[in-house]
Amino acid sequence: MEVFRHDIVIVGGGGAGLRAAIAAVEADPKASVALVSKVYPMRSHTVSAEGGAAGVAAPDDSLEMHFKDTVKGSDFLADQDCVDYFVEQAPKELTLLEHWGCPWSRDEEGRVAVRAFGGMTAKRTWFAADKVGFHMLHTLFQTSMRYDRIVRYDEQFVTKLLVDGGVVKGVAALDVREGTMRAILGRAVILATGGAGKCFPFTTNGTIKTGDGMALAYRAGIALKDMEFVQYHPTGLPGTGILITEASRGEGGHVINAQGERFLVTRDYGVGQKAELGPRDMISRAIMQEIAAGRGIKGPYGDYVHLDLRHLGEAKIMERLPFVRTLSKTYAGVDPVSEPIPIRPVVHYMMGGIDTNIDGATALPGLYAAGETACVSMNGANRLGSNSLTECLVFGARAGIRAIEFARGASVGSEAPLLAQAQEEATRIEDLRGRRKGGEKIAQIRREMQKTMEEGCGVYREQASMHESVRVMAQLRGRVSDLQLEDASKVFNTEILTALELANMVDVAEAIAVAAAARRESRGAHACSDYKARNDQEFLHHSLVTFTPGGPHLDRKPVTITRFQPEERKY
Ligand code: FUM
Repeated sequence: MEVFRHDIVIVGGGGAGLRAAIAAVEADPKASVALVSKVYPMRSHTVSAEGGAAGVAAPDDSLEMHFKDTVKGSDFLADQDCVDYFVEQAPKELTLLEHWGCPWSRDEEGRVAVRAFGGMTAKRTWFAADKVGFHMLHTLFQTSMRYDRIVRYDEQFVTKLLVDGGVVKGVAALDVREGTMRAILGRAVILATGGAGKCFPFTTNGTIKTGDGMALAYRAGIALKDMEFVQYHPTGLPGTGILITEASRGEGGHVINAQGERFLVTRDYGVGQKAELGPRDMISRAIMQEIAAGRGIKGPYGDYVHLDLRHLGEAKIMERLPFVRTLSKTYAGVDPVSEPIPIRPVVHYMMGGIDTNIDGATALPGLYAAGETACVSMNGANRLGSNSLTECLVFGARAGIRAIEFARGASVGSEAPLLAQAQEEATRIEDLRGRRKGGEKIAQIRREMQKTMEEGCGVYREQASMHESVRVMAQLRGRVSDLQLEDASKVFNTEILTALELANMVDVAEAIAVAAAARRESRGAHACSDYKARNDQEFLHHSLVTFTPGGPHLDRKPVTITRFQPEERKY
């Protein structure tokens, strides 16, 4: 087996992984960093982000306002020390990106322009038209290429963390191009693999978002935190789930029902004056209620409502939202200049993730996490749109610096036990390749998982259906170890990759269901029909789900509240 050695190993080549890599090599002039990604970094899901990245910039804005918006948006489940750090670092990180070449859009005076986003009390979302993820990722990627000490391992799928003496010391990875296993050793590991939207059938997430980092940490004994909070973005295209950015509403778009009524203005959905710029959890629920009341429009992929941009005019749409126009024309057959866009809520983001502290450190020495795969936690029960791209920068950088500091002080130790584990992993993967003796089909289990998760853990949840999800997911966990595969080839064997991703998703989905069923209240994105009110007495805590051989174990952790005491969340 080929063995590679570095100071730290970063798994994931998107926004958080690249930012962590750059921070690590800049913090330590000798640091050698492995950047391991299952796809070529420019294909990471960060590329698909559209609307923008939040950070205080305007004269009428303040760090305190950003702090309060984020904590209130989180329904008071965010750790306030993390939010404070985040809002303070956000403008610095976005400015740094500008210096590295990110082409932020400008206002009339030539300053960085900011736009409105949901749940924010001031314009503070930096943007580059509506292709922000592409430009940010490109900027980070080209900056990473200035450093020879960032060594890329593209199209390498990490299947296991190598742990010895209670400390993580590398990863075992499948080289997708050749089908061989390799050990990539380092004295610290950062997981930055993104979210797990593909646990659900209808999502804005790319096919690659299969909860890989979450599952790796979970199986290594690290808790997944606040997994019950799954964000539905209010405006996805029916059928494909393609994102129609919140920037459409930030630029003045309206959401209307079948009668052409702006129901977020005319009816009481709790968003007050914010109307279309309310937080995502509330707007998604409002749309679902309009549809349930029969005021939606019937379509081949279920009922939907409309996003109306016609009054913005062609010039503004072409300047600020050109990608929305392209996507709408290509995937919905409508031109938003002259027709409203069909939309409905769609799974977009996991507020939960690997339990870390503010440094991105997990309970396993040497293991760090950042970005959507981590729960640091600054998003609590509901993330505000445009906070996550900035989160990748702020906490990616911090994790990179802390990981290299840890690596400096850690001893290499004997490689023998690590290589033995990697060899064992190679045998496991080899057994799976083209494994005909199993009785289960990948597609069948994936279908059952996605259907169960949508029915049990959707925009609205019921105790009965959440418990049913827990039951089904436990069963699927058993069945996923009996997969039947057909393709025994080595080179670009996507079937084996799909099987490994499915096992990851089943573990993550089970953690979501278990945490959801136990939270007998409604908070943020967790809207439980049997317990409609928030219950701070019993549930103002993070939930932790830990893997045990007998099934998930549930625990809790206090929320850090510094100066913003929980109050009723009204807009
Ligand atoms: O709507 C959007 O552009 C999404 C932004 C986000 O999730 O932060």
